[in-house]
Amino acid sequence: MNFTKVQAGVGILGLAMVAGLVMGDLPATKQANAQSGQTIQLPANFRTDYEFLGAWAVSGDADTGGNIGQHIVYASPGTVKAYRKTGKFPDGAVLVKELFKGKTEDLTTGSATSAAEVAGYFVMVKDAEGKNTGPLWGDGWGWAFFGADDKKQTTTKDYKAECLACHEPVRDSDLIYSYAYPVLKP
Ligand code: HEC
Repeated sequence: MNFTKVQAGVGILGLAMVAGLVMGDLPATKQANAQSGQTIQLPANFRTDYEFLGAWAVSGDADTGGNIGQHIVYASPGTVKAYRKTGKFPDGAVLVKELFKGKTEDLTTGSATSAAEVAGYFVMVKDAEGKNTGPLWGDGWGWAFFGADDKKQTTTKDYKAECLACHEPVRDSDLIYSYAYPVLKP
């Protein structure tokens, strides 16, 4: 066996592994940063790569048809650490609220509701310096809703008409219902 060839092979393998590791780190970072442009996207990997902020049980709204539903809230990687340090959502942070119709049944714990079909997704992107303009940006955030049937294209036309009024009650906490997310508390 040719020793130099083996060595070279190992060298290349090593390089490939390092490259693999570096590339492997990219998606999460890229995902978070991909949002700093004008376009707001639903991050494809939020369920697996995002941080869990908290959950709501809701009843009687349009999404759930009067049944109990769930809202599960996620944040892009690094958000929790930054928030716990500074008390603010860092620039570029992406929040996703996934809406579920609930399946309620009698289990051994009692009446319990699990997440069934997705009803849609709300996305907010922190824009601390107001770099982005247009009808989906303002008040320090980008705002967009995605229906369960089209994850690529937001249906939101104007956040002031479609989002803002409902978030006014929590203006003091940057328009986010942060009190409900235990992981953000010191
Ligand atoms: C009918 C009122 C209402 C409207 C309209 C609304 N929101 Fe919210 N939103 C809430 C409430 C209340 C919560 C927290 C409780 C819950 O989910 O039930 C919330 C939570 C969120 C969250 C999770 C972070 C947080 O603030 O706790 C995101 C993200 C979000 N909304 C985005 C949006 C976007 C984007 C729009 C517009 C496209 C929008 N919302 C429109 C009432 C509303």
